[in-house]
Amino acid sequence: MNLFHHKSRIIVTCSNRLSPYLQHEIAALGFTPVRVFKTGVELMGDLKDCITLNLHLRCASQVLFSIKECNAHDANALYQQLLNISWESIIPADGYFSITSNVSNETITNNLFANVKVKDAIADRFREKTGARPDSGPGLHTAVVHLYWKDDIAEIFIDTSGETLSKHGYRKIPGKAPMLESLAAATLLATRWDRQSPFVNPMCGSGTIAIEAAMLATHRKPGLYRNNYAFMHLCGYDSEVYDLEYKKMEADVIEVPGLQIIASDISEDAIHVSKVNAGIAGVEDLIQFELCDFASTTIPANEAGVIYFNPEYGDRLGEELALQETYARMGDFLKQQCKGYTGYIFTGNLELAKKIGLKPKKRIEFYTSKIDCRLFEYELYAGSREKK
Ligand SMILES: C[S@@+](CC[C@H](N)C(=O)[O-])C[C@H]1O[C@@H](n2cnc3c(N)ncnc32)[C@H](O)[C@@H]1O
Repeated sequence: MNLFHHKSRIIVTCSNRLSPYLQHEIAALGFTPVRVFKTGVELMGDLKDCITLNLHLRCASQVLFSIKECNAHDANALYQQLLNISWESIIPADGYFSITSNVSNETITNNLFANVKVKDAIADRFREKTGARPDSGPGLHTAVVHLYWKDDIAEIFIDTSGETLSKHGYRKIPGKAPMLESLAAATLLATRWDRQSPFVNPMCGSGTIAIEAAMLATHRKPGLYRNNYAFMHLCGYDSEVYDLEYKKMEADVIEVPGLQIIASDISEDAIHVSKVNAGIAGVEDLIQFELCDFASTTIPANEAGVIYFNPEYGDRLGEELALQETYARMGDFLKQQCKGYTGYIFTGNLELAKKIGLKPKKRIEFYTSKIDCRLFEYELYAGSREKK
């Protein structure tokens, strides 16, 4: 079986609540999503399509390519089913592979046990057919096999991504409480920023939101910053397909004359980290960095600008009390200094959010890890502040 000439079900996974944005991205690439669920999007395609998806998507985590769906009540049944897959035509004999899984089957109490069963079946099939077997282990930098097993139905995928796509490769220094890149990208898509008007990001931390904004405006895709994917380690992989897709991606980058992206932070360290990360992303010249309290951030006069805050949430009580004032000040600043803009505040502390004192036009739901978060949208025309 040459996977590269074979059409099958593709599942693109993402963090919870990102799938509506992922769906749009996939459709914009010319694919037809056939199912959208909380943590992913399903479509049909071949491994060449997986290459395109891996390089272009901003909101994705993994691109999974289905190779078999079967009935399996327990681990032995699964093992027998897996022996029938011609692994020797998928994974190079001198290669390396690893197993990941998502299992909810009553006979399995430990996912690692299921992973070992998959690994054993692949190794035993190889030994029987070729007398040798590829190495295996936990690394996700080469071929990766993914098992999705729910009740008595198991589906085996080739994970064509390997290392997660949710990190976009430019953030070599994380800074304090950085936002996951795929989440930052999805929240930007949620703002419907026109990608030409000013974009202001006070409290920029490690710069993720401003960098993602610059990438979005100039059509820079995450694939520009990464050169290894699991699909590169499969039998039949033709680097020309990837090279061509990479060149197309480079050629897609545009200049946006007059684009103003402003990122500020009160911490000298944060501004330094942001500049380093923006440099790696190749967008340092597109962002104006300012070291200041958020209330001193430059706000260019504009009718369609976007201002986006991601403040701290406050894990401890003392911090939360101090942040009450910060949240109230953000509200005042938005109302008084950002007239005409659309304001956004992303937070995982819904109690603190009440201190902002502005009536949100929208409350868009997200998660950061397991924290229930909101992206609050404020229309900043005169008189929008709620009467206290
Ligand atoms: C949650 S972090 C932002 C993380 C960022 N989105 C990222 O991905 O790295 C909040 C940032 O707000 C900054 N900050 C806190 N109080 C501030 C203030 N009064 N003025 C400006 N920046 C402030 C902190 O230095 C920190 O970098």
